[in-house]
Amino acid sequence: MSQALWTAVDHYTTDLLLSPDPVLEAAVRTADQAGLPSIAVSPVQGKFLFLLAKAMGARRILEIGTLGGYSGIWLARALPPGGRLITLELDPAHTAVARTNFLAAGLASAIELRLGPARDSLQQLATEGQAPFDLVFIDADKPGYPDYLRLIVPLCRPGSLIVADNVVRDGAVADAGSDDPNVRAVREFNALLASDPRLSGTVLQTVGVKGYDGLAIALVRA
Ligand code: SAH
Ligand code: DHB
Ligand code: MG
Repeated sequence: MSQALWTAVDHYTTDLLLSPDPVLEAAVRTADQAGLPSIAVSPVQGKFLFLLAKAMGARRILEIGTLGGYSGIWLARALPPGGRLITLELDPAHTAVARTNFLAAGLASAIELRLGPARDSLQQLATEGQAPFDLVFIDADKPGYPDYLRLIVPLCRPGSLIVADNVVRDGAVADAGSDDPNVRAVREFNALLASDPRLSGTVLQTVGVKGYDGLAIALVRA
């Protein structure tokens, strides 16, 4: 009952609020045909990320976990002229699909795709002294989340937003005794977020075509 209902509502809201989008539909098709897992954010979640980026006027966005570029297209579309998305991905096959999709979306010049383990890429961004990111979207391997948060905060400025996908995990996040490494990792991530005086955050549970999960959202304080 629940998944069928969440799917029906997502279809209703998607049909109502999102225009048909051949570019995003092609991006999903290309990723599916290449055998990538169907774990991109949903259309309404993608639009949520787009609206968030637009509302804050984000000029520099960082994404951890590119996959086939679906969420990256939504984020890059929110950029003003001259804005930039840097997106980090470990798997060369995923970056190949994402490159194709970014080109087809006409966004290749606004997006920098960095191949490699995100920890290394984040350290590299710090070394390069990249100007602060306005918005960061964390959506890669869950065991990496605590380290990603530690590495990202210094790359932000007061007023930056950090958004992290998949922090509820079918509700398993409430189980302090879970031995699932992904659950333990997102619990550690949420605890870090809660205890870091530089951050003010919340967690929103989400349901929809992609099941039951949640988003953490944190504001970097002055
Ligand atoms: N944000 C994408 C979905 C990302 S899926 C979207 O919504 O469209 C998670 C991605 O993280 C996968 O492509 C996976 O290969 C990548 N990943 C896993 N471990 C990683 C690591 N250590 N560094 C960088 N990327 C990683
Ligand atoms: C998985 C990863 C994700 O980022 C997601 O949104 C859903 C599932 C996974 O690894 O299974
Ligand atoms: Mg995700």
